[in-house]
Amino acid sequence: MPVSILAIETSCDETAAAVVEDGRTIRSNVVASQAEMHARYGGIFPEAASRQHIRTIDAVVREAISQAGTSLDRIDALAVTRGPGLPGSLVVGINYAKGLSLSTGLPLIAVNHLEGHVFSPWVGSPEREPVFPVVALIVSGGHTELVLMDGPLRYTRLGGTLDDAAGEAFDKVARLLGLGFPGGPAIQKAAEAGDPAAFDFPRARLEGSHDFSFSGLKTAVLRAVEALRDRSGTLPVSDLAASFQEAVVDILVKKTLSAAETVAARSVFVVGGVSANRPLRERFMAHSSLPVFIPPFALCTDNAAMIGGAAYPHFRGRRFASLDFDARPNWPLN
Ligand code: KG4
Ligand code: ZN
Repeated sequence: MPVSILAIETSCDETAAAVVEDGRTIRSNVVASQAEMHARYGGIFPEAASRQHIRTIDAVVREAISQAGTSLDRIDALAVTRGPGLPGSLVVGINYAKGLSLSTGLPLIAVNHLEGHVFSPWVGSPEREPVFPVVALIVSGGHTELVLMDGPLRYTRLGGTLDDAAGEAFDKVARLLGLGFPGGPAIQKAAEAGDPAAFDFPRARLEGSHDFSFSGLKTAVLRAVEALRDRSGTLPVSDLAASFQEAVVDILVKKTLSAAETVAARSVFVVGGVSANRPLRERFMAHSSLPVFIPPFALCTDNAAMIGGAAYPHFRGRRFASLDFDARPNWPLN
C-alpha cells in the first residue's frame, strides 16, 4: 500500500492542501490564492493574510481530501509547513494540523518550506531521476538561495541574496511601473512587447562568491524611471520590464551554472515562484550542459504538494513532530 500524506501549506498568501502518495504521486493539490485580495494593497498585507487563511483552511483541506477520493482514515500522516514564512500565516496551518493530529491520532511532520520547494521537481514527475550532487537555485518572493545537495536531505548553502530576493525585486519594479501585484507574471507579460536590450541595467556579479544582490538593479530602474518621467512624462513600460527581466535572468542563470561548475554538480534544480518565469526557464534549458529540473508551473509557486513530497523521507525516517512545536519564521534549510 502506498504511503498517503495529507499536507498543509499556509506560509505566505496561498492557503493550500494536498494528498501525495509515496512523496511522488499527487492525488490532489488545492491552492486558494489570496493574490486578488493583496493586489488591492499593492503587496502582501500580513494580518489580512492570516485572517484569510483562518477563513479558508478548513474548506481547502476538505476539498483536497475529496478531490483525492480518499478519507482521513486512509491517510497515513499529516504534514505542515513550519517555516520560513509569515509568523501569523504559519500559525494558522500549524494549529489546524495539530488539531487534526490530536483528533485523528495521525502523526504530524513539520516541513521546511524551502525543502518543499527543493522537492517540487520530484513531485508529479516520478519518471525523471536527478543525479547527485545537485545545485538548487531556490528563487521566490522571500528567498534567492544557492544550495548544494550531496544526496536527499543533505544540504550545504553556497550563497544567497545579500538584500532583496529576486521575486521581491520583480514585485517592487512592477509596482514602480504600475503593473500591479504579483509582479513576476505582470513583468513577464509586459516584457513580451519590449526590447530586453533597450536599457543596460547593472548586474551585480559579486565575483568569487555565490551571492546575489538585486537592490542596485532595483535602484537603477527607479533612476531610469525618474529621468524618463522628467524628460517626456511617459514611460516605455515594456522596454523597462524586458530590460529588467533580462538582467535578473542573466545573473540567475550565470551564477547558478558557475556554482554548478565549481562544485562539479551533475544536475541543476530551479525552484520557487520565479522559476515560473518563461524566459528564465528557456535560458536555463539553452545554456546548461547539465540536466535541468524545473517543476511544472503549478508547482513553482507555493503549494502543498511539494510539502507532501518533502515530508515523505521524514515519514520513512519516523521524524515526527511533538505537538508543542512552534512556527519558525526564519528557519534556514540546514
Ligand atoms: O514561491 P512563491 O509562491 O512564494 C514564496 O515562497 O515567496 O513565490 C512568489 C514570487 C513572487 O515574488 C512572484 O512575483 C514571483 O514568485 N513569480 C514570478 C513569476 N510568477 C511568480 N516571477 C517572475 N516571473 C513569473 N512568471
Ligand atoms: Zn515559496
